[in-house]
Amino acid sequence: MPVIQDLLANNRHWAASRASQDPDFFPRLSRQQNPDFLWIGCADSRVPANEIVGMDPGELFVHRNVANLVLPSDLNCLAVIQYAVEVLNVEHIIVCGHYGCGGVRAAMQDRQLGLIDNWLQPIRRLCERHAEELAGLASDTARVDRLCELNVVAQARSVAATTIVQNAWHRGQPLAVHAWVYALADGLIRDLGDTLRGIDDLAPNQRLRALE
Ligand code: CO
Repeated sequence: MPVIQDLLANNRHWAASRASQDPDFFPRLSRQQNPDFLWIGCADSRVPANEIVGMDPGELFVHRNVANLVLPSDLNCLAVIQYAVEVLNVEHIIVCGHYGCGGVRAAMQDRQLGLIDNWLQPIRRLCERHAEELAGLASDTARVDRLCELNVVAQARSVAATTIVQNAWHRGQPLAVHAWVYALADGLIRDLGDTLRGIDDLAPNQRLRALE
């Protein structure tokens, strides 16, 4: 098991190696960031955002929380989306969940874990809405994995329904919201094909007119 000093030693090696490959790397990044993508993913240690999509520092703006939830009451997540869309002008928001998500699995069980159970409540409601489909699956693993997919799609729609994203679309800003799921078993990402690119991709009752 690594000890805490290992992290600092690793950091020194990484910084030295980066600087030797590209002497302008740190000076360039210290001047500004210009990412084209916002990544909203799970806090799970096995899903390191930059690494799995081959992005360098500076290329991905990242927000992670347990089970990659986007709740309209979460000021933290909303602030990230607003800054990414309105200041950094990202063109893509990727909501990426992962199969075997512990948060999703916890939301399907009755064992109490503490405060986190409150956070995971929206997944319990999602589970209830799709109870019939989930009950038809062959195993608990399959049910967890399907709920991981349903959760990603629901969270991508939640991103798209924010006033931030809807107003970007009203301004004509190119912005796509993607629903992806990562497989821990083979390291591959699957695009669930539920990309939202404009107001018309929202459910009719979610659509807001532009501010007058
Ligand atoms: Co997870």
